[in-house]
Amino acid sequence: MPVTCYTDEKKNIRFKLDTPASTYIMQTADTDGFLLHVYYGRRLKSMETDDLGRIEQHPFLPSGNERERCSFMDCAPFEYPTHGLGDYRDDAFSVLNENGHTATSFSYLKHRVYKGKPGIKGLPATFGKEEECETLEITGEDTANGLEITLFYTVFENTDAIARHVSIKNTGRYKNIKLTKVLSSCTEFYGDEYDTIFLHGSWARERIIDRKPLGYGKHYVSSLRGESSHQEHPFITLLSKDADEDRGDVYGFNFVYSGNFIAQAEKSQFDTVRVMMGINPVDFCWNLKAGEVFETPEVISVYSHEGIGGMTRTFHDLYRNNLIRSRYRDCERPILINNWEATYFNFDTEKLISIAKQASELGIEMLVMDDGWFGHRDDDSSSLGDWTVNEEKLKGGLKYLADEINKLGMKFGIWMEPEMISPDSDLYRAHPDWAIQLPDRKAAMSRAQYVLDLSRRDVIEYTFGQISRILKSANISYLKWDMNRQLTDVGSFMLDKEEQGELFHRYCLGVYELQERLVTEFPDLLLENCSGGGARFDPGMLYYSPQIWTSDDQDPVERLKIQQGTALIYPLSTMGAHVCDCPNHSTGRTTPFATRGYVALAGTFGYELDVTRIPEEDRRMIPAQVAMYHKYNKLVRNGDYYRVASYLENREWDCWEVVSKDKTEALVTIVNVIGRVNYKARLIKLKGLNPQKKYVLKYFDMNTGDEEKNGMTLYGDALMYAGINMTGDYHGDFKGRLLHINEA
Ligand code: DGJ
Repeated sequence: MPVTCYTDEKKNIRFKLDTPASTYIMQTADTDGFLLHVYYGRRLKSMETDDLGRIEQHPFLPSGNERERCSFMDCAPFEYPTHGLGDYRDDAFSVLNENGHTATSFSYLKHRVYKGKPGIKGLPATFGKEEECETLEITGEDTANGLEITLFYTVFENTDAIARHVSIKNTGRYKNIKLTKVLSSCTEFYGDEYDTIFLHGSWARERIIDRKPLGYGKHYVSSLRGESSHQEHPFITLLSKDADEDRGDVYGFNFVYSGNFIAQAEKSQFDTVRVMMGINPVDFCWNLKAGEVFETPEVISVYSHEGIGGMTRTFHDLYRNNLIRSRYRDCERPILINNWEATYFNFDTEKLISIAKQASELGIEMLVMDDGWFGHRDDDSSSLGDWTVNEEKLKGGLKYLADEINKLGMKFGIWMEPEMISPDSDLYRAHPDWAIQLPDRKAAMSRAQYVLDLSRRDVIEYTFGQISRILKSANISYLKWDMNRQLTDVGSFMLDKEEQGELFHRYCLGVYELQERLVTEFPDLLLENCSGGGARFDPGMLYYSPQIWTSDDQDPVERLKIQQGTALIYPLSTMGAHVCDCPNHSTGRTTPFATRGYVALAGTFGYELDVTRIPEEDRRMIPAQVAMYHKYNKLVRNGDYYRVASYLENREWDCWEVVSKDKTEALVTIVNVIGRVNYKARLIKLKGLNPQKKYVLKYFDMNTGDEEKNGMTLYGDALMYAGINMTGDYHGDFKGRLLHINEA
């Protein structure tokens, strides 16, 4: 049973949540009905633990010592910390009521347990069948505010993950309560020394791993950009000091949301650590009328006692099985060629067909036409919102182009940026009030564009109408949904003054509504989300699209870091990755074509270059790369991912491995970034294999598109404990190698 509840003789209730390898315990305490956290970590047999009073100076509850209530409030491990009543650590929940007061409280009222998992209205969330998971709802009340607060915990039976969110109901004491902060989860940790991992970045440098010791006070990452962002990521890991890739306690928290967030760890005066996550309270103010319910997005928490790698594999499994819905989730995606870095805005039908012709002969399966096909968009300064085909560029229109591409045996895909409006567009001239802007202020442009106000029904209907019309106008198999600027000047001409604080969240709900309608009306469409590269690579978007563009930086060396950070949480099958042009457009670096292929193989795999203009020797390698993708993609998509070496850490080389679930097959990729004198081989200790099984090892040959004929045979134990020397041509920088391992 994943959820167990037990009431003791003092009428306190203990709740124990069990996944295969973790246990989470909380309990009610005292006459006030406090809900206190007891334990989260390695699985325990029973729910008995030492008492709650682990904080030595204050081992009491208020009922026994009312005169020191404040001391209790300021150190108790609250499951959902409230505001203004003596707990001076950061809280999860505050309001503004009609009297102008901000305090909140939570007293246990009731609970219920049931099989399966409820959805969250209007929001992406993990899902689970009745036989896969069980849900515990604990409802508390705040009588002074007339609120009911329900904490949801869904426990997955086969995955070490718990999904959590919160709902708040206004039971009617006040006609309206303003919710000013409603975080989705809080977890308290006791007394150990921890490190944290955050992911930081920038445009073209997304999700770089940043590990550091956790000191006293508050440490957080957040976004106020209206999207999860390039800069900081809705993710936090708390890990024991000794934790590494394979060992140690690791707790990962990831927010299933694509808008403003906060992810925070706070170390208190008593060495306890409070980890919280949710919608960023800054500029958030939600009106909750009598009878209404507000539901937060969910947080996924994962525990691993097998180090960072264990956490990673749990996230991958959960997201592959219980978050991504697309029918492409379990399929090979068509190998695409995207014309963005091949032509930028400078293309026409003829040019695209010439790229497609050459590409189809080499085995590439889909042409994606990127930005610049509509309105009068010859650069990025106009036309967003005017989704009419530019017939000067695309003679014969979209249908003609799609048909010609189809005739070559290829699928056809398209780029759109549906959330945007250019000031130079017919749409803006007709509806300037559809842009997010503040009255009496000149709104800041970014990439010469504004953001559409998706809190408005008319804007949502217009936008969906445009997307739907375009998709129906030709045989379009794929849509790249881009979003190239962040929100500023956050004001809506539609919402009234009391509601302006809802705009950020309503915007996000609008994006989700559009994408939900899209995947419902076009279930066969392959959707790839994108945001100026990887600024909206988050679990929220994965609910709608099985893949997301990882970064505009496609240089394979930079990608080693970006893909390592992204794959810390997200399955390889979700990472948009292409073989890029050279010298690379972001870094100016020249790398071997083969290595560009190895690195893209760790994602969705495609091309982003003008295939008619690359060197002949590179072009000749494409069929081999295509063969490589077809040979290994199933393993890459479904296998367990292990990190063997990190270029981010060692500054010399990188190595990762994917092992099939039944441990009969593995694929090892190595990239030797910096060549070393007298260094012809790297000793690599493999991971995740069956020590008893015998394996045959064969290198993939990028010139022939096949594996070598005769490989070495070794037992799994020798491969993992003694290691192997990965040989090959390592003379020079940026050389890669691919090794396929099969049960003998
Ligand atoms: C940003 C994306 O990340 C690029 O791949 C490309 O689609 C451009 N936008 C087009 O404007």
